[in-house]
Amino acid sequence: MKIAMIGTGYVGLVSGVCFSDFGHDVVCVDKNPDKIAMLERGEVPIYEPGLDALIEKNVEAGRLTFSTDLSAAVDGAEAVFIAVGTPTRRGDGHADLSYVMAAAEEIAQALTGYAVVVTKSTVPVGTNRQVKRTIAKANPSAEFDVASNPEFLREGAAIEDFMKPDRVIVGVQNDRAADLMSEIYRPLYLREFPIITTDLESAEMIKYAANAFLATKITFINEIAALCERVGADIKQVSKGMGLDGRIGNKFLHAGPGYGGSCFPKDTKALARIGQDHAVPMQITETVIKVNDETRRRMIEKITDMMDGHLAGKTVAVLGVTFKPNTDDMREAPSLTVIPALIGAGARVRVVDPQGRREGEELLPGVHWVEDAYKAAQNADALVILTEWNEFRALDLKRLAKKMATPALADLRNIYSAQDAKRAGFSAYVSIGRTDFRAEA
Ligand SMILES: NC(=O)c1ccc[n+]([C@@H]2O[C@H](COP(=O)([O-])OP(=O)(O)OC[C@H]3O[C@@H](n4cnc5c(N)ncnc54)[C@H](O)[C@@H]3O)[C@@H](O)[C@H]2O)c1
Repeated sequence: MKIAMIGTGYVGLVSGVCFSDFGHDVVCVDKNPDKIAMLERGEVPIYEPGLDALIEKNVEAGRLTFSTDLSAAVDGAEAVFIAVGTPTRRGDGHADLSYVMAAAEEIAQALTGYAVVVTKSTVPVGTNRQVKRTIAKANPSAEFDVASNPEFLREGAAIEDFMKPDRVIVGVQNDRAADLMSEIYRPLYLREFPIITTDLESAEMIKYAANAFLATKITFINEIAALCERVGADIKQVSKGMGLDGRIGNKFLHAGPGYGGSCFPKDTKALARIGQDHAVPMQITETVIKVNDETRRRMIEKITDMMDGHLAGKTVAVLGVTFKPNTDDMREAPSLTVIPALIGAGARVRVVDPQGRREGEELLPGVHWVEDAYKAAQNADALVILTEWNEFRALDLKRLAKKMATPALADLRNIYSAQDAKRAGFSAYVSIGRTDFRAEA
């Protein structure tokens, strides 16, 4: 099957590459010529484990190409996927659909025979119908159907998620489009992964409902963590005790510095706006957004309190700036709130991240990038763990404490314990939802 993938970002690139690995002929299109030039040179513009090898394999097999020419890619394609960004629209929190609609207009002009235009981007309910109207208006003779196929992959585990999904959601209006979508996902269908066919509106809603639910779960445990700190409970034990309940499950119950990333912040905001537009306020989601903002602010207070309120002239070493490990994505990362606040209070900030520097250099002006945690800790007054990369999970705490001017550790991912820190010679240890440790002065 011939597929055009419009938008070659985190979702479009992974989806296009995986479809080519299923055996389809895929052209990945992007309007950013630098991205396409990199891909044509065999370089991968994003960090996603395993993606480079899968690209190489499918390019060599002649099933995967990259282009800036949308018309040529769409000409003769049986399926055209829209995987462009839907960021928060400035000012009102709605999903910005301008990229989706611009792509739809371009696709309309390029359609030659029957094709299904599939929206993979996360879009509000009603968008697929809007895409259909836009194409029909721009090219009244175009023969096409639309389908909604939201994506659930997680950055950092994107290939695994795409190849072994919990489910695939396909929203359609007729059997012709449903059959074509089944053909595309045939390898998954044969391996009995659940493929759920719905109407367009339900497919669109499933994506927002799923993301808002996950954001709620994280936020819930973060709020419980704040209470644990006050009452002397330990959030790790609480999460474990809760998560063993089969009705609750243990995923997304790790307390931390608040959710970030390319999806939860914008999708919760968009869902809240959709609710307001339809006079059904999403009160839970609206509260989640508020509590998450407070959680992030609480992180700044925690670090400040650990340093007795004195940040001016002090050196803070920050481990991890990407919004989670195994990605270079910095969108809405907690580091983007925490680090500027530290700098604003007069601290000098050193930063280590295995993949974050390329994006982070522009987003975090004024920080000093170093190669590893031990260099960062040299004469530092505080060490802050913001992202739980594997290389920060087995640090030699004793060695770190020795190097620091003031051995104080803010472990905002609960990797270590107060006991570990105390034993290693730290004079202060703060974490999330557990009792802090502070050596007597
Ligand atoms: N990133 C994730 O983990 C994730 C997961 C599930 C769903 N989604 C959704 O998928 C969509 C894409 O997200 P992303 O993170 O891949 O975005 P991204 O910003 O990484 O990529 C979007 C790409 O589309 C390109 N583009 C925009 N308009 C174009 C056009 N007219 N023609 C060709 N290319 C065009 C941009 O240049 C960019 O490279 C969003 O709706 C997002 O909510 C993302």
